[in-house]
Amino acid sequence: MQPAPDAFRTPKGTNDVLPPESGRWAALIAAFASRAGRFGYGLVMTPAYEHIEVFHRLGEGTDVVRKEMFEFEDKGGRKLALRPEGTAPVVRAYVQHRPTAPWKVWYLSPHFRHENPQAGRYRQHHQLGAEVLGVDDPALDVEVISLAHGFFRSIGLSRFRLAINSLGDAQCRPGYLDALRSYLRAHAGELCEDSRSRLEANPLRVLDCKVPGCVEVTERAPQLLEHLCADCKSHFEAVQAGLDAIGVEHEIAPRLVRGLDYYTRTTFEFASEALESAQNALGGGGRYDKLAEDMGGPPSPGIGFGIGIERVLIACDAENVLPTPVPYVDAYVVDAVGPEVGAEVAALLAELRETGLSADRAYGGRSLRAQTKSADRAGARYVVLFGRAEMEKGAVAVRDMESGEQVEVPRSRVMAWLHEHLGKTHRDGAR
Ligand code: HAM
Repeated sequence: MQPAPDAFRTPKGTNDVLPPESGRWAALIAAFASRAGRFGYGLVMTPAYEHIEVFHRLGEGTDVVRKEMFEFEDKGGRKLALRPEGTAPVVRAYVQHRPTAPWKVWYLSPHFRHENPQAGRYRQHHQLGAEVLGVDDPALDVEVISLAHGFFRSIGLSRFRLAINSLGDAQCRPGYLDALRSYLRAHAGELCEDSRSRLEANPLRVLDCKVPGCVEVTERAPQLLEHLCADCKSHFEAVQAGLDAIGVEHEIAPRLVRGLDYYTRTTFEFASEALESAQNALGGGGRYDKLAEDMGGPPSPGIGFGIGIERVLIACDAENVLPTPVPYVDAYVVDAVGPEVGAEVAALLAELRETGLSADRAYGGRSLRAQTKSADRAGARYVVLFGRAEMEKGAVAVRDMESGEQVEVPRSRVMAWLHEHLGKTHRDGAR
């Protein structure tokens, strides 16, 4: 059978990430990992797929579950789904392993949603996320939000806004939903079909609808913040005060409900002002104080966020920050002699790498010219040249690729020489 014409291309809505662009991914991930580590979060890794029941906890009425899940059956007939988001698997892992609370974890994972692909919206996207289970202290909400906020700042982004809201809890939300439902029923004729169909079962979703008619109606709708019970109100006030105290600017967005059903109390979203509004959410999250119980675990409040790496990179482009790293190696070994020095070339290269320098070489017996070109392309700081004349004196030539100067260095001294000269300027390879 002939393969389809596009069989050997990435499936719709997915992307390859290749060097040097992947260098930006590496930089983002390293910045997040180091920041999360400083905040006391450990890396968690869960499978790329779970039993489908795990994701049903996101809400049977959400788009993610209703329309976008990649579902399949294993050979034993168990229904599984590729992870559309990171919170439910982490909570499943918490319930399964019962680690000591508070459990503070971070993750980097691919996520799968069957969406209509467009710039900033893909069928496979990647999130950097953090979750904490076992604490309902508002000071933790502040920590989690500031973990994300400072990460955006640390990579150079400045044109983004933080919106926060409270969705209340089992005490106060039902009363609010009744009030919202009656209001929406009275305006049903002005709502889009989708919103009308959601009005009874999930009126909060209507607040999220971007259709202009619905926006007009919901702008005048009763607000949850006015219906919060005393506990939720004081929790939300403490979160705001905590953010103020550490200088994290935020605005209150009474209609921020987010697209997943597990949220309680604090919700938040970071939106880039440099991107088009349909795809401007860089990341978001909130509390999910009932999710662990919903999965059969002990009562364990939780909070976290997910940051879309692809979106962040688009925002970085728009703000002209986090450029693609320029290729760099400390030393590039060039062989102008041939196979008889092969072992020596390999030994020097190994020594350079094992002693902490970045080093590379060309392969396949290429000409001196071609090797020098490769050294240039690799961003070599120094070229170590095995030339016949130098070899006869037990030496190699070392060329400074910035100044163009070349010196002869005894073979036995070349490691020390390079370490000495790179002492201040040596940096990690950027490829
Ligand atoms: P989410 O808002 O669905 O939340 O996704 C988080 C972020 O992932 C979004 O703000 C966006 O940057 C990115 N994202 C989502 N879908 C796509 C897509 N199709 N293409 C590209 N980027 C996308 C969650 O997933 C929650 N698990 C966040 C959370 C963690 N809440 C509590 N803890």
